Amino acid sequence: MKFICLMLLIISRITGSKSEQYEVVGPADPVLAVAGEDVILPCSIKPSFSVVDMRVEWSRSDLRGSPVHLYENHEDRNTAQIQSYRGRTKLIHQELQRGNASLKLSAVQISDEGRYKCFIQSKSWFDDAIFDVRVEAVGSPPVITADGFDRSGGLHLQCESEGWYPEPDLEWLDSEGVSLSSETTETHRNTDGFSVKHTIIVHRSIDKIHCRVKMKHHVQETEVIILNNMFYDWRTSVILISVFVLLIVIAGLLFVHKYRAHRRLKDKKSTIQHERDQLLQSQKTIIPKALTHLRTQKVNVILDADSAHPRLIVSDDGKQVELGNKLEKKMDGNEEQNGRFKEYLSVLGKDKFSSGSFYYEVQVKEQTKWFLGVVRESINRKGFGIGMNPQNGYWTVGLRYGIYSAYNDPPVPLSLTVNPQRVGVFVDYDEGLVSFYDVESMSHIYTYTDQSFTENLCPFYSLGYWNTNSTPLIICDD
Ligand SMILES: *[C@@H]1O[C@H](CO)[C@@H](O)[C@H](O)[C@H]1NC(C)=O
Repeated sequence: MKFICLMLLIISRITGSKSEQYEVVGPADPVLAVAGEDVILPCSIKPSFSVVDMRVEWSRSDLRGSPVHLYENHEDRNTAQIQSYRGRTKLIHQELQRGNASLKLSAVQISDEGRYKCFIQSKSWFDDAIFDVRVEAVGSPPVITADGFDRSGGLHLQCESEGWYPEPDLEWLDSEGVSLSSETTETHRNTDGFSVKHTIIVHRSIDKIHCRVKMKHHVQETEVIILNNMFYDWRTSVILISVFVLLIVIAGLLFVHKYRAHRRLKDKKSTIQHERDQLLQSQKTIIPKALTHLRTQKVNVILDADSAHPRLIVSDDGKQVELGNKLEKKMDGNEEQNGRFKEYLSVLGKDKFSSGSFYYEVQVKEQTKWFLGVVRESINRKGFGIGMNPQNGYWTVGLRYGIYSAYNDPPVPLSLTVNPQRVGVFVDYDEGLVSFYDVESMSHIYTYTDQSFTENLCPFYSLGYWNTNSTPLIICDD
């Protein structure tokens, strides 16, 4: 280049013509462009005088000099232009008079990234400037979806965002802003940039989780609020979907490249606020919704009078059990065969379950000692002092001496805010789950998870070992 210029210089000296000499100046640093926005590619001559009569040629030197924009003989001639630039390039003709050949490139695309050459030629002189253009594309706000629980009761979340360039980082953060490690990560590249997808398993101690996707100058973030009592309650997929549709909040832009309009940011913030309010509102409806769903799986439990302790009276329709006074009444001398409870005041439901899920409700109102849930059909019905826990085939909650407990191993005292009048029991045999609800206050009582059921399960009701309260336990069908 210098050699050619020198030659021209010599030639012009020789011919004695008065020539205009100039230097073409481009930007010193790479130009940063944001996909979808407009960008000016600066180029001018020094000293500055009009380039209106000259030839201005913009091209991609990384694409073997393919033409981006050509100005010649006082007009734009873009018939040979690269297809993807069609209609997006513009030279400002007034600026040309001031020696400014900057190119305005509108609606920047990822494919615009590359090395550009600005070449300016007069009748007697030419020079060029070469510089790089970098493109950044800000992707979509991340979307968090929940797709189930794993074996250990952890909630599976997935966060996805697309349309980023260059490749962004994705991170999960808890409510304190501490980064959590992803379970799996995936990145894909296509013409629209990079899409990323990470998954994580969340346990019950986390109440809020953020998914943040960021590049150097841009961040997009979404948060999801996790209700703690969801963990043990909602393992059936149908409920999961309905509950989580309510829970997903799409938050918007938190930090934007500095020249982005401030107001747009403000608007977004108020939408986030609004969405949060709506979310809080929706939480109040989740438990009722789930219970309504569970109640559709209600089964018709009938008590098996043949299994009842001799002191118990089971009503003819098999829907109530209470203490009877007369010991003789129930004795038929055949207890060994018919599997009556001998020590505890207990009774089983007639139906046995060995798969699927079922639900039933029991009124416990005014009874001061009760235990209910499900048991293995094969539990020991004769013994005394047998621990009522999952190990021995009992999955129950109950009340005695004024204390509500779940009879896990060891027993878990429950602090309930209201005394349940009616208890709902939900069993998912395949998932190994037994859940108890207070139906009237629409709240969760206790859940056994990750149990492994291998035998028939029967509904179980008991008034304990010693009881003088004659209020019946009633199976509710309404
Ligand atoms: C050249 O023109 C562009 C607009 O086309 C303008 O943004 C830029 O500031 C001008 N450069 C100079 C040095 O005047």
